[in-house]
Amino acid sequence: MDKVIIVYASLTGNTEEMAELIAEGIRATGATADLKVVDDCNAVILQKYDAFILGTYTWGDGEMPDEFLDFVDEMEELELTGVVTSVFGSGDTTYPSFCGAVDELEEKLQGWGAIIAQESLKVEFGPTMEEKQLCREFGEKMVARLATEMGV
Ligand SMILES: Cc1cc2nc3c(=O)[nH]c(=O)nc-3n(C[C@H](O)[C@H](O)[C@H](O)COP(=O)(O)O)c2cc1C
Repeated sequence: MDKVIIVYASLTGNTEEMAELIAEGIRATGATADLKVVDDCNAVILQKYDAFILGTYTWGDGEMPDEFLDFVDEMEELELTGVVTSVFGSGDTTYPSFCGAVDELEEKLQGWGAIIAQESLKVEFGPTMEEKQLCREFGEKMVARLATEMGV
């Protein structure tokens, strides 16, 4: 059975809500989804999974939250070439860099050679009914891409 981990940072709960819906989508396929708050784990945990998903809100002027900085440093020490991943997050379109932290994480993952399974999912504040469905589909697509990459 495929095992996917979702690691996220969420201050007011919007990104967390997305993470839970994405996990729902993954589980609907029969795969396993574990959810972890970024502060509570070291990036080495990613190595125990077939694929991982990162979720973050955006802070300051399009920046990644401080909670993610150590995790990013730890990821730099890992071999992520060919690992299937994707990124999501919540932001606010009134800021010049909407979901800038999502883009930053995606760029880093690309730089490390990871396979970006699908376009990043960005939502303004909490997900609407329609966006809730997009979150579930995001989880489902992740498992489908994993199956393709593993040649199943
Ligand atoms: C001080 C501050 C700075 C922010 N800067 C940005 C930003 O640059 N870009 C953006 O898209 N959202 C920005 N946001 C909005 C948050 O990312 C947004 O409220 C998000 O929904 C929070 O997600 P969370 O509920 O998971 O913590 C900022 C919010 C605050 C309070």
